[in-house]
Amino acid sequence: MKTILITGGAGFIGSHVVRRFVKKYPDYKIVNLDNLTYAGNLANLRDIEKEPNYEFVKADITAGELMKALFKKYRFDGVIHLAAESHVDRSISSPMEFIYANIVGTVNLLNAARLIWDDFTGRRFYHISTDEVYGSLGAKGFFYENTAYDPRSPYSASKASSDHLVRAYYHTYGLPTVISNCSNNYGPFQFPEKLIPLAIHNIKHNKLIPVYGKGENIRDWLFVDDHANAIDMIYHDGKIGETYNIGGNNEWKNIDLINLLCQIMNRKLKRSAGTSENLITYVKDRAGHDLRYAIDSGKIQKELGWKPSLQFEEGLEKTVEWYLANEEWMKNVTSGDYQKYYDSQYNKR
Ligand code: NAD
Ligand code: DAU
Repeated sequence: MKTILITGGAGFIGSHVVRRFVKKYPDYKIVNLDNLTYAGNLANLRDIEKEPNYEFVKADITAGELMKALFKKYRFDGVIHLAAESHVDRSISSPMEFIYANIVGTVNLLNAARLIWDDFTGRRFYHISTDEVYGSLGAKGFFYENTAYDPRSPYSASKASSDHLVRAYYHTYGLPTVISNCSNNYGPFQFPEKLIPLAIHNIKHNKLIPVYGKGENIRDWLFVDDHANAIDMIYHDGKIGETYNIGGNNEWKNIDLINLLCQIMNRKLKRSAGTSENLITYVKDRAGHDLRYAIDSGKIQKELGWKPSLQFEEGLEKTVEWYLANEEWMKNVTSGDYQKYYDSQYNKR
């Protein structure tokens, strides 16, 4: 039985990856390592937590000696590393947390793999990263795997730094690494600080929908299960030392996306046309706000046969239905400090 370490498995994307691996590969033991920050939630994995091939370990990747001890104890065959601080706005108000979790945490895992794995044969260290490392595009063009890194927020700079360190360990120590850089994910279990679940939550409760700047920034949206499928393919068939870009080929201006979401919400909540749209409020722009992201995912499509499965309208509708059906989940994650955090953010605007 192979033992795979998945870090950040209690978060949004990680929980979809853990669920997929636990269900699809009963002959793998999946160890989900997460320290349960505000974004980590074991309720994301209720349906699989009793499976015999699943184990949860609460631990912080910034604890280097603990990571080595866990590598010794579990003798992991492979690593899929998702644990990170992931929200750009939080990286602007608290950059140091991103440096510790995203850079120091990644190096601790790389060191544990390098020092504890006595033989690299058949092993794999897969680092999950973001398209934000490439910076910001103008009206035209795409990010390719060989696009020069140009990160502009503390979040993207911390992810870029971790990507460089992963590549350095491949070149210097021969550690068998692979990296993927993905565009914006959406879907069930995403914490309501990110644009789509935040807007769904606010519309439901008749609160303002904050649109940064003029709402003209563009993101390339991908349904989270399509990302989990790409991660599965890359983990098993991606070439060691390589990088794969993953994206939805699905660019939306923020304001157009919000208007589409408002229409879906009006229909689902049986509100008359224009009701949710009245909540749209233009607020002060995010500092250093990247204008446009767009991924060319030709490499993974050609080499591994991956492609996105869902049209955006269909995925967004499914996502809205999930959030409306899971009011309890939303209530739990928005209790505690959630409102305090948001009030403090808006006071700054
Ligand atoms: P998330 O914030 O929802 O989840 C992150 C998880 O990591 C949480 O469960 C949290 O508890 C855990 N974590 C954070 N710091 C930790 C630490 N020090 N030790 C142990 N666990 C820790 O994030 P997400 O959106 O699911 O993103 C997961 C990964 O995918 C990140 O590496 C992110 O950079 C990358 N990514 C995200 C997107 C996106 O659109 N969300 C797109 C591309 C890449
Ligand atoms: O591109 C991949 C990245 O996508 C991931 O690496 C990050 O972890 C993830 O958070 C996401 O980053 P973004 O900054 O693009 O996502 P966010 O949902 O925060 O914002 C999407 C767009 O919407 C962005 O242009 C900012 C804008 N926005 C966001 C929020 C939260 C608003 O206009 N209003 C808001 O309230």
